[in-house]
Amino acid sequence: MSMTSPKAGFFITFEGLDGCGKTTQMKLLAQRLRAAGRAVLESYEPGGTRIGAQVRRILLDAANHELCATAELLLYFACRAQNVEEAIRPALRRGDVVLSDRFTDSTLVYQGVGRGLGKQVVLTLDQIACKGLVPDLTLLLDIDLETSLARARARNDAAGQSGAPAETRMDDQDLAFHRKVQRAYAELAAEHPERIVVIDARAAIEEIAERIWQTVARRLEIFHV
Ligand code: TMP
Repeated sequence: MSMTSPKAGFFITFEGLDGCGKTTQMKLLAQRLRAAGRAVLESYEPGGTRIGAQVRRILLDAANHELCATAELLLYFACRAQNVEEAIRPALRRGDVVLSDRFTDSTLVYQGVGRGLGKQVVLTLDQIACKGLVPDLTLLLDIDLETSLARARARNDAAGQSGAPAETRMDDQDLAFHRKVQRAYAELAAEHPERIVVIDARAAIEEIAERIWQTVARRLEIFHV
Protein backbone atom coordinates (compact mmCIF):
# COMPACT_ATOMS: atom_id res chain seq x y z
CA MET A 1 0.00 0.00 0.00
CA SER A 2 1.57 3.27 -0.98
CA MET A 3 1.65 6.37 1.24
CA THR A 4 1.78 4.47 4.53
CA SER A 5 4.66 3.26 6.65
CA PRO A 6 5.95 -0.29 6.15
CA LYS A 7 4.52 -1.24 9.57
CA ALA A 8 0.97 -0.33 8.56
CA GLY A 9 -1.77 -2.73 7.45
CA PHE A 10 -2.33 -4.71 4.30
CA PHE A 11 -4.96 -4.01 1.67
CA ILE A 12 -6.55 -6.90 -0.24
CA THR A 13 -9.27 -6.53 -2.86
CA PHE A 14 -11.54 -9.16 -4.40
CA GLU A 15 -12.57 -8.76 -8.03
CA GLY A 16 -14.50 -10.70 -10.64
CA LEU A 17 -17.77 -10.98 -12.50
CA ASP A 18 -21.05 -10.95 -10.57
CA GLY A 19 -21.70 -14.37 -9.06
CA CYS A 20 -18.02 -15.41 -9.07
CA GLY A 21 -18.16 -16.20 -5.34
CA LYS A 22 -15.98 -13.34 -4.09
CA THR A 23 -18.30 -12.36 -1.24
CA THR A 24 -18.27 -15.92 0.16
CA GLN A 25 -14.52 -16.19 -0.23
CA MET A 26 -13.91 -12.84 1.42
CA LYS A 27 -15.87 -13.92 4.49
CA LEU A 28 -13.90 -17.19 4.71
CA LEU A 29 -10.60 -15.32 4.44
CA ALA A 30 -11.67 -12.83 7.13
CA GLN A 31 -12.47 -15.72 9.52
CA ARG A 32 -9.12 -17.35 8.88
CA LEU A 33 -7.15 -14.13 9.29
CA ARG A 34 -8.91 -13.43 12.60
CA ALA A 35 -8.12 -16.97 13.75
CA ALA A 36 -4.48 -16.17 12.95
CA GLY A 37 -4.71 -13.15 15.26
CA ARG A 38 -5.04 -10.39 12.67
CA ALA A 39 -7.50 -7.49 13.00
CA VAL A 40 -9.63 -7.34 9.85
CA LEU A 41 -11.88 -4.71 8.30
CA GLU A 42 -14.38 -6.14 5.80
CA SER A 43 -15.58 -3.60 3.29
CA TYR A 44 -17.39 -3.58 -0.04
CA GLU A 45 -18.09 -1.29 -2.97
CA PRO A 46 -20.31 0.36 -3.79
CA GLY A 47 -20.98 0.83 -0.07
CA GLY A 48 -18.71 0.40 2.91
CA THR A 49 -19.95 3.42 4.89
CA ARG A 50 -23.35 4.80 5.91
CA ILE A 51 -23.15 7.38 3.13
CA GLY A 52 -21.79 4.80 0.69
CA ALA A 53 -24.81 2.57 1.36
CA GLN A 54 -27.07 5.45 0.28
CA VAL A 55 -25.04 5.97 -2.91
CA ARG A 56 -25.21 2.20 -3.55
CA ARG A 57 -29.00 2.38 -3.63
CA ILE A 58 -28.90 4.97 -6.41
CA LEU A 59 -26.30 3.02 -8.39
CA LEU A 60 -27.94 -0.39 -8.28
CA ASP A 61 -31.65 0.48 -8.25
CA ALA A 62 -33.07 -1.09 -11.42
CA ALA A 63 -35.57 1.80 -11.65
CA ASN A 64 -32.72 4.32 -12.30
CA HIS A 65 -32.39 3.42 -15.98
CA GLU A 66 -31.78 7.05 -17.01
CA LEU A 67 -28.60 7.38 -14.90
CA CYS A 68 -25.97 8.47 -17.44
CA ALA A 69 -22.55 6.83 -17.68
CA THR A 70 -20.62 9.84 -16.36
CA ALA A 71 -22.91 10.31 -13.35
CA GLU A 72 -22.56 6.58 -12.68
CA LEU A 73 -18.76 6.85 -12.80
CA LEU A 74 -18.68 9.82 -10.43
CA LEU A 75 -21.04 8.14 -7.97
CA TYR A 76 -18.81 5.06 -7.77
CA PHE A 77 -15.90 7.37 -6.95
CA ALA A 78 -17.93 9.46 -4.50
CA CYS A 79 -18.66 6.26 -2.65
CA ARG A 80 -14.99 5.20 -2.77
CA ALA A 81 -13.64 8.59 -1.62
CA GLN A 82 -15.88 8.39 1.47
CA ASN A 83 -14.89 4.79 2.14
CA VAL A 84 -11.15 5.48 1.81
CA GLU A 85 -11.28 8.56 4.04
CA GLU A 86 -13.68 7.28 6.68
CA ALA A 87 -12.89 3.58 6.94
CA ILE A 88 -10.08 2.12 4.83
CA ARG A 89 -7.19 4.49 5.55
CA PRO A 90 -7.83 4.64 9.32
CA ALA A 91 -7.91 0.83 9.44
CA LEU A 92 -4.66 0.53 7.48
CA ARG A 93 -3.06 3.11 9.76
CA ARG A 94 -4.06 0.95 12.75
CA GLY A 95 -2.32 -2.01 11.10
CA ASP A 96 -5.46 -3.95 10.16
CA VAL A 97 -5.83 -6.17 7.15
CA VAL A 98 -8.48 -4.51 4.99
CA LEU A 99 -10.54 -6.71 2.68
CA SER A 100 -12.68 -5.03 0.04
CA ASP A 101 -15.29 -6.72 -2.13
CA ARG A 102 -14.46 -4.72 -5.32
CA PHE A 103 -12.42 -1.50 -5.68
CA THR A 104 -11.01 0.66 -8.51
CA ASP A 105 -10.32 -2.33 -10.79
CA SER A 106 -14.11 -2.76 -10.99
CA THR A 107 -14.46 0.82 -12.20
CA LEU A 108 -11.68 0.30 -14.76
CA VAL A 109 -13.43 -2.70 -16.28
CA TYR A 110 -17.15 -1.79 -15.86
CA GLN A 111 -17.07 1.97 -16.54
CA GLY A 112 -13.68 2.40 -18.28
CA VAL A 113 -14.12 -0.52 -20.68
CA GLY A 114 -17.73 -1.76 -20.36
CA ARG A 115 -19.25 1.72 -20.65
CA GLY A 116 -16.43 2.85 -22.94
CA LEU A 117 -15.45 5.89 -20.84
CA GLY A 118 -11.76 5.00 -21.10
CA LYS A 119 -9.28 3.80 -18.51
CA GLN A 120 -7.45 7.14 -18.31
CA VAL A 121 -10.44 9.06 -16.94
CA VAL A 122 -10.91 6.33 -14.33
CA LEU A 123 -7.26 6.53 -13.28
CA THR A 124 -7.46 10.33 -13.03
CA LEU A 125 -10.51 10.14 -10.76
CA ASP A 126 -8.79 7.41 -8.75
CA GLN A 127 -5.98 9.85 -7.97
CA ILE A 128 -8.52 12.34 -6.64
CA ALA A 129 -10.63 9.85 -4.66
CA CYS A 130 -7.96 7.46 -3.35
CA LYS A 131 -4.90 9.75 -3.32
CA GLY A 132 -2.48 7.02 -4.31
CA LEU A 133 -3.98 4.16 -2.32
CA VAL A 134 -3.48 0.98 -4.34
CA PRO A 135 -4.26 -2.55 -3.09
CA ASP A 136 -1.27 -4.63 -1.98
CA LEU A 137 -2.92 -7.72 -3.42
CA THR A 138 -5.93 -8.29 -5.67
CA LEU A 139 -7.60 -11.69 -5.94
CA LEU A 140 -9.38 -12.01 -9.28
CA LEU A 141 -11.91 -14.85 -9.16
CA ASP A 142 -12.21 -16.21 -12.65
CA ILE A 143 -15.37 -17.98 -13.84
CA ASP A 144 -17.07 -18.38 -17.18
CA LEU A 145 -19.68 -15.86 -18.22
CA GLU A 146 -22.57 -18.36 -18.31
CA THR A 147 -22.03 -19.45 -14.69
CA SER A 148 -21.64 -15.84 -13.61
CA LEU A 149 -24.90 -14.71 -15.20
CA ALA A 150 -26.85 -17.77 -14.02
CA ARG A 151 -25.70 -17.23 -10.42
CA ALA A 152 -26.43 -13.50 -10.52
CA ARG A 153 -29.90 -14.21 -11.91
CA ALA A 154 -30.64 -16.83 -9.23
CA ARG A 155 -29.52 -14.41 -6.52
CA ASN A 156 -31.64 -11.62 -7.94
CA ASP A 157 -34.70 -13.91 -8.18
CA ALA A 158 -34.26 -14.90 -4.53
CA ALA A 159 -33.92 -11.24 -3.50
CA GLY A 160 -36.98 -10.36 -5.58
CA GLN A 161 -39.08 -12.96 -3.77
CA SER A 162 -38.01 -11.52 -0.42
CA GLY A 163 -39.52 -8.16 -1.44
CA ALA A 164 -36.16 -6.31 -1.30
CA PRO A 165 -35.62 -3.54 -3.93
CA ALA A 166 -34.06 -4.92 -7.12
CA GLU A 167 -30.26 -4.25 -7.08
CA THR A 168 -29.99 -5.31 -10.71
CA ARG A 169 -29.23 -2.16 -12.73
CA MET A 170 -25.69 -3.37 -13.54
CA ASP A 171 -26.57 -7.08 -13.86
CA ASP A 172 -29.27 -6.12 -16.38
CA GLN A 173 -26.66 -5.05 -18.97
CA ASP A 174 -26.53 -7.21 -22.09
CA LEU A 175 -24.21 -10.14 -22.73
CA ALA A 176 -21.81 -8.07 -24.88
CA PHE A 177 -21.27 -5.70 -21.92
CA HIS A 178 -20.40 -8.54 -19.54
CA ARG A 179 -18.16 -10.13 -22.17
CA LYS A 180 -16.22 -6.85 -22.50
CA VAL A 181 -15.88 -6.68 -18.71
CA GLN A 182 -14.57 -10.25 -18.56
CA ARG A 183 -11.96 -9.56 -21.26
CA ALA A 184 -10.92 -6.32 -19.53
CA TYR A 185 -10.33 -8.18 -16.25
CA ALA A 186 -8.03 -10.65 -18.04
CA GLU A 187 -6.07 -7.78 -19.62
CA LEU A 188 -5.77 -6.00 -16.28
CA ALA A 189 -4.38 -9.14 -14.65
CA ALA A 190 -1.81 -9.47 -17.46
CA GLU A 191 -0.79 -5.81 -16.97
CA HIS A 192 -0.29 -6.17 -13.18
CA PRO A 193 1.01 -9.70 -12.54
CA GLU A 194 2.77 -8.61 -9.33
CA ARG A 195 -0.47 -7.34 -7.75
CA ILE A 196 -3.31 -9.35 -9.32
CA VAL A 197 -3.50 -13.10 -8.68
CA VAL A 198 -6.02 -14.99 -10.81
CA ILE A 199 -7.88 -17.71 -8.91
CA ASP A 200 -9.83 -20.41 -10.76
CA ALA A 201 -13.26 -19.95 -9.19
CA ARG A 202 -14.89 -23.04 -10.75
CA ALA A 203 -13.36 -25.33 -8.10
CA ALA A 204 -15.12 -26.31 -4.84
CA ILE A 205 -15.54 -23.52 -2.27
CA GLU A 206 -13.04 -25.09 0.19
CA GLU A 207 -10.46 -25.60 -2.54
CA ILE A 208 -10.71 -21.96 -3.65
CA ALA A 209 -10.50 -20.80 -0.03
CA GLU A 210 -7.32 -22.85 0.49
CA ARG A 211 -5.70 -21.44 -2.64
CA ILE A 212 -6.55 -17.90 -1.47
CA TRP A 213 -5.22 -18.63 2.00
CA GLN A 214 -1.91 -19.92 0.64
CA THR A 215 -1.52 -16.76 -1.45
CA VAL A 216 -2.40 -14.40 1.40
CA ALA A 217 -0.46 -16.21 4.12
CA ARG A 218 2.67 -16.13 1.97
CA ARG A 219 2.34 -12.38 1.42
CA LEU A 220 1.58 -11.66 5.06
CA GLU A 221 4.20 -14.13 6.25
CA ILE A 222 1.71 -16.04 8.40
CA PHE A 223 3.02 -19.58 8.93
CA HIS A 224 1.65 -22.79 10.44
CA VAL A 225 -2.00 -21.74 10.69
P1 TMP B 1 -21.96 -6.52 -6.21
O1 TMP B 1 -22.25 -5.84 -4.94
O2 TMP B 1 -22.78 -7.71 -6.48
O3 TMP B 1 -20.51 -6.76 -6.46
O4 TMP B 1 -22.51 -5.56 -7.35
C1 TMP B 1 -22.06 -4.33 -7.60
C2 TMP B 1 -22.28 -4.03 -9.08
O5 TMP B 1 -21.70 -2.77 -9.35
C3 TMP B 1 -21.62 -5.04 -10.00
O6 TMP B 1 -22.46 -5.32 -11.09
C4 TMP B 1 -20.40 -4.33 -10.51
C5 TMP B 1 -20.79 -2.88 -10.41
N1 TMP B 1 -19.67 -1.99 -10.17
C6 TMP B 1 -19.29 -1.11 -11.18
O7 TMP B 1 -19.88 -1.11 -12.26
N2 TMP B 1 -18.27 -0.24 -10.93
C7 TMP B 1 -17.61 -0.17 -9.73
O8 TMP B 1 -16.70 0.64 -9.55
C8 TMP B 1 -18.03 -1.09 -8.68
C9 TMP B 1 -17.36 -1.04 -7.35
C10 TMP B 1 -19.07 -1.96 -8.95
